[in-house]
Amino acid sequence: MADVLVTGATGTLGHRVVPEATAAGHKVRALSRREHVGYTGVHWARGDLLKGDGLDAAVDGIDVVVHCATQPIGSKDVVATTNLIAAAKRARVGHIIYVSIVGIDRIPLPYYKTKLRAEEALAASGVGHTVLRATQFHDLIATIFAIQWFSPVLWALRGARFQPIDTHDVATRLVELIDTEPVGRAPDIGGPEVHSHADLGQMFLTARGSRRKVVGVGLRGKIVAGYRSGANLVPDNPVGTVTFADYLRKDE
Ligand SMILES: NC(=O)c1ccc[n+]([C@@H]2O[C@H](COP(=O)([O-])OP(=O)(O)OC[C@H]3O[C@@H](n4cnc5c(N)ncnc54)[C@H](OP(=O)(O)O)[C@@H]3O)[C@@H](O)[C@H]2O)c1
Repeated sequence: MADVLVTGATGTLGHRVVPEATAAGHKVRALSRREHVGYTGVHWARGDLLKGDGLDAAVDGIDVVVHCATQPIGSKDVVATTNLIAAAKRARVGHIIYVSIVGIDRIPLPYYKTKLRAEEALAASGVGHTVLRATQFHDLIATIFAIQWFSPVLWALRGARFQPIDTHDVATRLVELIDTEPVGRAPDIGGPEVHSHADLGQMFLTARGSRRKVVGVGLRGKIVAGYRSGANLVPDNPVGTVTFADYLRKDE
């Protein structure tokens, strides 16, 4: 069993990884910028990946880091990952596992470009690492629909398809990787089903009992073209077990 640091431990994904890694028998330390209580039995480390504060103490004695922290603004994730790598090197951490996103090299979203640079920093670091790219989380797809709650119709991107995955399924895969040797890049993972954005919107409305209509919006540009090309999908590795409809039922 390993001593594991989870960054982003309070986040949408990280808060799933912490209990799952603990249940698998690992000794888990959870990183946050804030002082924490909660998650009984979890040891919290306070640290800021951008400023570098608290990182040496956070990685001290750690075998594996599961890096889930993110701040999707500018180059912050590159700085944060570079600071984490430096601290991991000083502490001789053997393995950093980094969660990334399917298609970041083919869809020119600014956030994706930053994730790619963070991946590259890891690849050049000399620290044992594994990059796991996952498709969009159910939470993200649902949030994009939820913020349109006061719109008379639900807008969906015409021609785009998604293969959303549950954070429990991503956490399960990350915890499996704790027990493996660093592989550089693990096979990408996706959810169990591929649906058009419009179909996912209809599932969302049905689950919420709304009679509004889904309306396809046809946007142009390289980012949208990337999604339309299916660069965000992994139909050959649908490892997720929870469908979007299952997720919506649980969320009711
Ligand atoms: N959302 C998706 O659909 C999706 C799909 C595939 C992959 N991913 C990747 O999965 C990872 C996790 O995403 P998420 O949605 O779970 O993120 P999230 O909910 O936004 O959580 C972000 C976490 O990062 C931590 N954090 C932010 N800035 C920090 C800093 N300077 N120092 C230390 N911790 C910091 C926050 O902790 P505190 O506030 O407690 O400090 C928080 O726990 C990301 O790398 C993302 O790119 C996401």
